Amino acid sequence: MEILVVKDYQALSEKAALIVTEEIKQHNMPVLGLATGSTPEGMYARLVEMFNNNLLDFSSVVTFNLDEYAGLSPDHPQSYHSFMHRHLFDHVNIMVENTHIPHCGDQNISEFCREYDRAISAAGGIGLQILGIGGNGHIGFNEPGRFLSVYTHLVELTEETIKANSRFFDSPREVPRQAITMGMGSIMHASKILLLASGNNKASAIQKTVSGIISTDLPASMLQLHHNVTVLVDQDAASLINSSGN
Ligand code: GLP
Repeated sequence: MEILVVKDYQALSEKAALIVTEEIKQHNMPVLGLATGSTPEGMYARLVEMFNNNLLDFSSVVTFNLDEYAGLSPDHPQSYHSFMHRHLFDHVNIMVENTHIPHCGDQNISEFCREYDRAISAAGGIGLQILGIGGNGHIGFNEPGRFLSVYTHLVELTEETIKANSRFFDSPREVPRQAITMGMGSIMHASKILLLASGNNKASAIQKTVSGIISTDLPASMLQLHHNVTVLVDQDAASLINSSGN
């Protein structure tokens, strides 16, 4: 794992956007795995800025989002569909048909999940997977527990995640209880992974992610088994790393 510590959120967003830019420029048909949440917002803003300055072309970019709430209409303002359009897709020359976000509608959920994984493989696999991290160490919506799933699947959200994500909704009761997420295998298959974290509230999860101990209780710790992971954190999120000797 490469751990890059930068000064603050702005530096993190800049650096993350540069890594994405490199990936886009290096491939004829770049395949990006995208994340939502507050953390990558600055990175998306920077990518849009670069596009507006004619420094980036999204016309051949293919994207697969990590996850989406289940039971929330794609046009709900807090859906990850809406998030992606608001922060990136509506502002760059990406082709909507090249963007993928889990949503099964009336389709059988297992069938949908299998198709999502097949679509990723058919696109040649994910070249660069962007990840945020939950305070409890979840990635995508792969929550801590006794088991982790390999493939895209339906997941019950933990109370901690529901509480954390309630800040985006009018009340915790409105937060969906389930989500569809890429599984750990889908994530681990990406050629490169970029994990982003900012702020003190992520420090403990980041410390455990890089500590050497791998456990299903902290799904992000599995990333230690991947051959090409960059953990890009600001000083606050990195604040507990040294105290553990890492
Ligand atoms: C959600 C998403 C994750 C994201 C996490 C952290 O639960 N499913 O993909 O990484 O929240 O979000 P934030 O960046 O807002 O802290």
